[in-house]
Amino acid sequence: MGDIRKRIESILKRYSLKSNERTLDRFIYLLSTLDEGDLTDRLLENLIIENLTIGESYFFRDLGTFDKLKTIFKSRPFWKILSIGCAKGEEVYSIAITAQQASVDYQIMGVDVNVQRIFEAKSGCYRFWSVRFLSEREINNYFVVKNNMYCIKEEYKKNVTFSNGNITEYNFGITEKFDIIFLRRVLIYLDNVGDIIRKVLSILKDDGYLIIGNGEYFPPLYEYFEPISPSSIAIMKKKAQTFLLDTSISTNKLSSSQPNRTREVLSVTNTYMSEKARNSSVPAFKNTINDLHGNLSFEEELHLVENYISQGKFNESYERLNVLSVKYPSQYVVWKYKALVELELLLKDKARESLKRALFLNHADEEIWQLKNFIELR
Ligand SMILES: C[S@@+](CC[C@H](N)C(=O)[O-])C[C@H]1O[C@@H](n2cnc3c(N)ncnc32)[C@H](O)[C@@H]1O
Repeated sequence: MGDIRKRIESILKRYSLKSNERTLDRFIYLLSTLDEGDLTDRLLENLIIENLTIGESYFFRDLGTFDKLKTIFKSRPFWKILSIGCAKGEEVYSIAITAQQASVDYQIMGVDVNVQRIFEAKSGCYRFWSVRFLSEREINNYFVVKNNMYCIKEEYKKNVTFSNGNITEYNFGITEKFDIIFLRRVLIYLDNVGDIIRKVLSILKDDGYLIIGNGEYFPPLYEYFEPISPSSIAIMKKKAQTFLLDTSISTNKLSSSQPNRTREVLSVTNTYMSEKARNSSVPAFKNTINDLHGNLSFEEELHLVENYISQGKFNESYERLNVLSVKYPSQYVVWKYKALVELELLLKDKARESLKRALFLNHADEEIWQLKNFIELR
């Protein structure tokens, strides 16, 4: 296992994935139970992608975004859409359902770095957890239930494709840019946010939309994009000055040295904008987020916790998770995250108790079993 850390770091670098020291230590400890001879590069790569990214998603996540999307859809007859970090496809099929409800034509492509998630996305069958926020009527409308699995109806699989790929390297080779790009809860895993944002800029039409997750805040985004309105801050459009940018920005692998030209053009065009116009979107966004803090929905609360965890703010996330476990005692994901954070805070007995609750509520979640194995191995 001598050079395992180096091998892991080189894979993380290749995928532009970020990880903190403690998570890495925990991961390396888990690997120490394997025979090094079995740990091929391919297996190690899969384990890293599986363990250091969270595939949590569900149908119509951030419902307000989909309500707004339905209105937006009605403005054009055809939409070409990309979902980056599409996980098991819940997001893609939610978009397809919304487009059909708005009676528009569409083509949707989902891309995810995790091969297993893409396989499941193509199959389109889900456990109850993925449809948990849908009404019975919605479930009947969109799914066929087979062996306790909720399988998306064939009509929603039309015009939908899925590909396995790392967005940092993915070559779209496109002739026509996208009308909408979904980029929700992916940037938190990546260490080259600026590069990804510039890549998105280069493959999105000038009048296209970029959709991020509720509560996500990445300052480099606001260099190029602005929310369409203070009430829809997760839906963004390109800032007018970015239209002047060279649209041939490479869609091949990006390196951090490439975007300088973009920066230069921006800084020149920026000087023609008024101070107010330049600064308008970010403060408005920040205020809205602050206003929301007092009144977050379950999914927004959860996302905030995910953000804290990904930033290594374990005390903050633990504080919120303690509140959430009282407020939503039957949500297994709260107990799962609580166990994860308790492990990070070295509260092993508490983590064991939280895992018991999580398993009681959902016996089928692989991540809970991974955590359980980890505790038992120590
Ligand atoms: C938390 S899920 C988000 C799913 C969905 N977008 C949502 O908001 O519900 C994040 C997904 O991003 C994927 N991902 C992480 N890094 C990626 C990369 N470099 N390229 C493509 N997908 C990536 C992960 O595999 C995971 O399935």
